[in-house]
Amino acid sequence: MRLVIESNKDQVATHAAQYVVKQIKCFQPGPSRYYVLGLPTGSTPLGMYSKLVEYYKQGEISFQYVRTFNMDEYCAIPRDHPESYHSFMWNNFFKHIDIPSENVNILDGNAEDLQKECQLYEEKIKAAGGIDLFIGGVGDDGHIAFNEPGSSLVSRTRLKTLARTTVEANKRFFDGNEELVPKQALTVGVGTIMDARQVMILITGGNKAYALKMAVEEGVSHMWTVSALQQHPKVLFIVDEDATSELRVATYKYFKSLQECVEATHQYC
Ligand code: GLP
Repeated sequence: MRLVIESNKDQVATHAAQYVVKQIKCFQPGPSRYYVLGLPTGSTPLGMYSKLVEYYKQGEISFQYVRTFNMDEYCAIPRDHPESYHSFMWNNFFKHIDIPSENVNILDGNAEDLQKECQLYEEKIKAAGGIDLFIGGVGDDGHIAFNEPGSSLVSRTRLKTLARTTVEANKRFFDGNEELVPKQALTVGVGTIMDARQVMILITGGNKAYALKMAVEEGVSHMWTVSALQQHPKVLFIVDEDATSELRVATYKYFKSLQECVEATHQYC
């Protein structure tokens, strides 16, 4: 596990976007070799998306040979609802870059057969050769995608009922009205994320500090599904100072010193 501590959320966004660009470029994607990204929604990755759009507009990076799989999608709101994850992704990222629409994959929360939709999604990921880099955020309770506390750590893509705390946290996107927040969603499983060749998690803000502590310092637990990543061979957390406020001083100093070492030797790709 690597933990990079940046001073604020803008620095987190820049670091994350530069990391993504570097990974895609190192891979050298082409017509017979697509780079596969797993993508999150939420307010945390917004800065990264706008940086990636900026780099694309500057001619730094192309997404022509990139395929994407989003983590999750609400059920029972229309795809074109302003708060659907489809709308989020197109408005904040896809419509500003050169990704062909057929390379974008987002679960259909209104599919007639939700179980089949989830199974097909897993098959599509497999057919794409698996995910090279899965990017995620976390909920205050340490959930990744919509793998709420108590989710199986070997779970696959499936239908989940949202925890009360998640509904409460997400009501800010629905006029502050819990009634309007969808109560169910389709989500990739913890196992689906664990299968990715690399995972990058972004955590910012003091409200996520306890989740970061549980992810990094405590044991693997299905009550903090992000902690499953301790068993992933290549995981990178990029966090801001505020998110480190629950970490032990020794943990903070250890990861800071590693960071300086990695930056000095440019071992990044
Ligand atoms: C939702 C999403 C998660 C996201 C979380 C935190 O629950 N399903 O993928 O990580 O929100 O979102 P935010 O970044 O807005 O705090």
